[in-house]
Amino acid sequence: MTVISKSELRAGLTMSRRPRRLRRTAEVRRMVRENTVSVDDLILPLFVVDESRERREIGSMPGVSQNRVREAVEEAAAASALGIPAVLLFGIPAKKDATGSGSWDPEGPVQQAIRSMKAEVPGLAVIADVCLCEYTDHGHCGVLREEGGVVDVVNDETVELLVRQSLSYAEAGADFVAPSDMMDGRIGRIREALDAEGFSSVGVIAYSAKFASGFYGPFREAAESAPKFGDRRSYQMDPANGREAIREILLDIEEGADMVMVKPALSYLDVIRDAKEISDVPVVAYNVSGEYAMVKAAAARGWIDGERVMDEILMSIKRAGADLIITYHAMEFARLRNQS
Ligand code: PBG
Repeated sequence: MTVISKSELRAGLTMSRRPRRLRRTAEVRRMVRENTVSVDDLILPLFVVDESRERREIGSMPGVSQNRVREAVEEAAAASALGIPAVLLFGIPAKKDATGSGSWDPEGPVQQAIRSMKAEVPGLAVIADVCLCEYTDHGHCGVLREEGGVVDVVNDETVELLVRQSLSYAEAGADFVAPSDMMDGRIGRIREALDAEGFSSVGVIAYSAKFASGFYGPFREAAESAPKFGDRRSYQMDPANGREAIREILLDIEEGADMVMVKPALSYLDVIRDAKEISDVPVVAYNVSGEYAMVKAAAARGWIDGERVMDEILMSIKRAGADLIITYHAMEFARLRNQS
């Protein structure tokens, strides 16, 4: 290391403001740090398959598996032991049909997992994702009807099925249900039904601004939920629309959402910031499967430092305004935090 002496190279700008003073040492940087990511901010997604299946790692998501109920409960216990406050459950049923009826089966994988987690892992919040795409044989997030030669997901009928699914998860003991389908009016209707059935303490986390995104690719492998035809653009949002996201968020708050969500996170940091400004309920951001897969793939090739990029990504989501982050990195982040 060659250092230059003062006499060797003379310089001296006349400047009283030098931002670098606050970056000189690790202690000073720590003192002036504006944002932090804590394990308390993280929610771990878990995939639960029917008992007839094997545990299987998702090829495009290293470290993430399809779990049977027992394995999911063990994973949840490990997450809780590391200080992660909540898990988000997705189910893959034994059989799929046109209406996604497996989603309100009291013996479905998610219902079983909720019951076991509530019994065996006290101190862990259990959030159940509400959507039909993993349960329908066509892979769309609702029931289909043809109108004027166009086959599309019908809104109001789908909402009634989402209500059944939500009540079934509430009955099993979920702390929150999280509708990710993007039908109009489902937050209000689910809230009303939960209250009417005696589940007024079960919360609703609304996927409010969920965009039709290419970043969901790996998830569809994990949840076996890719649509068999067409795409989700008639219900999920157009990536071009920021103002419409505000409208969706305000509607969900009005309908009784306890928290609102923006998804995906990284290409939508501006939407997270807008959500934070207008929302008086917590804002959740979903750091989705494709965002995770890109980090893992590049890190495996040695192209980036995976841990450092993970930290930077989670920090950017916090800085944008998220109160909570759903992320497949949760276990890795918590393990590293618990070590240091
Ligand atoms: C729909 C749902 C999706 C995700 C969460 N809930 C996928 C989709 O809309 O196709 C994606 C999550 C991820 O990519 O990590 N039930």
